[in-house]
Amino acid sequence: MTNKVLIAPSILSADFTRLGEQVAAAEAAGADRIHVDVMDGRFVPNITMGPLVVAAVRRVTALPLDVHLMIVEPERYVEAFAEAGTNWLTIHEEASPHLHRTLQLIRGLGMKAGVALNPHTPPVVLDYVWDLLDQVLVMTVNPGFGAQRFLPETLAKISAVRQGGTARGLAVDVQVDGGIDPSTASRVVAAGANVLVAGNAIFASPLGIAGSIQAIRAAAEGA
Ligand code: DX5
Ligand code: ZN
Repeated sequence: MTNKVLIAPSILSADFTRLGEQVAAAEAAGADRIHVDVMDGRFVPNITMGPLVVAAVRRVTALPLDVHLMIVEPERYVEAFAEAGTNWLTIHEEASPHLHRTLQLIRGLGMKAGVALNPHTPPVVLDYVWDLLDQVLVMTVNPGFGAQRFLPETLAKISAVRQGGTARGLAVDVQVDGGIDPSTASRVVAAGANVLVAGNAIFASPLGIAGSIQAIRAAAEGA
């Protein structure tokens, strides 16, 4: 990997009573994006946050906001997330029968567009949308909750997605999300990931926010 590895702390594991402070601490510690996990209780069993929280985070950081929609009918909310200050908007392939159109909509509103793949979803579903993609999110757990165990069977898919982008001459980010910590960071980067999302390993780490970001970065750069 010649590109720098980017770290995107997921605020799902943050202390919501101190969200602004924790986002500022992540930015000061060198985080590259802030990842926001939006869940609707339908696509995934959990319910989390929406555009209101994205707009609040927008006011406390200059970092790009990387919003991961785990919701059905994501096309209905693309505009609201754009207005809230989203920079990167990622939707699930499994939740979007009109994926091509929704990616066009995301880019048309000036955001970077991403597609997320659940652990069972093969990368072949990307074959006819590669030109509309800025990012592919390879889920390394089943979406819905933080602090789950990394699924090693996703490593081959990370490599396949990286190869898919390279073979087409595209500079697409390959993001991984779920169970990322210093030990799994080196494995996913070796497989081809360049954007690492981490929630529990940053906001619940005994190393603290800055120490854990440094530890993940050191592991990733040693890969
Ligand atoms: C899972 C979310 C993740 C999650 C990652 O559904 O998409 O972003 O917060 O959490 P950790 O890093 O705690 O596994
Ligand atoms: Zn996520």
